[in-house]
Amino acid sequence: MKLLTNAEQIVTCNTNGKNFKKGKEQSELEILTSHTIVIENDLIKDIVPVQSIKNPSSYEVIDLRNKIILPGLVECHTHTAFAGSRADEFKMKLDGVHYEEIAAKGGGILRTVNAVRETPLPALVELIKPRIEEFISQGITTLEIKSGYGLDFENEIKLLHAIKILDEIYPIDIIPTFLGAHTYPKELRANHKGYLEEITQKMIPHIAKNNLAEFCDAFCESTAFSAEEVDLIFSVATEHGLKLKLHTEQFNNIGGIDLALKHNAVSVDHLEVLNEEDIPKLTSADIVCDLLPGVSFFLNYQFAPARKLIDSGAVVALSTDYNPGSSHIINFHLIMQIAALKMKMKIEEVINAVTINAAKSLTVNESVGSIEIGKKADFSVFNTNDYSDIIYSVGRNLNCMTIKNGEVIFSKQ
Ligand code: NIG
Ligand code: FE
Repeated sequence: MKLLTNAEQIVTCNTNGKNFKKGKEQSELEILTSHTIVIENDLIKDIVPVQSIKNPSSYEVIDLRNKIILPGLVECHTHTAFAGSRADEFKMKLDGVHYEEIAAKGGGILRTVNAVRETPLPALVELIKPRIEEFISQGITTLEIKSGYGLDFENEIKLLHAIKILDEIYPIDIIPTFLGAHTYPKELRANHKGYLEEITQKMIPHIAKNNLAEFCDAFCESTAFSAEEVDLIFSVATEHGLKLKLHTEQFNNIGGIDLALKHNAVSVDHLEVLNEEDIPKLTSADIVCDLLPGVSFFLNYQFAPARKLIDSGAVVALSTDYNPGSSHIINFHLIMQIAALKMKMKIEEVINAVTINAAKSLTVNESVGSIEIGKKADFSVFNTNDYSDIIYSVGRNLNCMTIKNGEVIFSKQ
């Protein structure tokens, strides 16, 4: 057995078994001082006052004096599986050209698709490795990665294979999402029916049969997939046992919210242009609203209405959306800091958004996302005496130790 002891604070994000935080609850963190976490195998066995451990020498002890412990961070929306660079488009964006305009001219996602198609599987795996290591060094113990830059059978499956290989290499949990409906590939731009058949008749059945994804996602936007098109994809995905997520309300409102609710999606992601009248629908369904402030920052675009959502009783999570076009930001801590500074989220709300609510967005909230007895021994340890410093130290990553399933998988002085 192992002890994590002497930490200045244990930020448990305790939910008393509810396993998510909604509305007002999102600002509640439970902070324990002078407590020790007892780990048995890969689980949290107990959380007890420091002095109640009578014979610490019979345990393996990790002394966390001058440090604080949080649940392992959960990053629930990334496009980490990409090749190539779009720095040239970034320059155009700095000169004022709009993201959607670049995409309409054949740039954007399709540029990255070309790069992925040209990269063989082993090279793709090597490209992605340092990105995963960077996430781990920030305290992330559960990481979602989407496909979506292959856009044909061979290359979507290649991306999902790369994600599977990486999950086997690294000790963190890497959760794969199929995003074949990211945009229409250039060869089928004028043949939506053809690509929808490819997705529903070939890709989804193969992915489900070979257990290559847990979730099916789609980009519901006027430049990508209509609500009717996503409706078809979601019906087939559900028949094949995939859970659902939806990119929606980023630039337009074309029916994505109602569609996600109709199909019982676990999350709606983006929501920068969310209509006020749609908020009560989201709050009554307890669907996770996964907000991506890095996109607004990177594209110099409006932020999702985080304050209104939380004040109305929504379940809010936060993610990097790490990708080469709209949020080339791999720093999860910077995302948390932007959420506090630009979306007026309280520090406590931000912390719950990247732990327990992000875990709900991946349906792993019964086993991770908070420090509660019986959950997995996943922790992020920060080099500070107080949790506010995580947000106050803008641009910095104060994580100094990452623990997954009870094992230290990253540490630095
Ligand atoms: O979540 N919106 C669609 N997909 C990504 C952007 C992908 C890209 O530009 O490469 C997003 O913002
Ligand atoms: Fe995204």
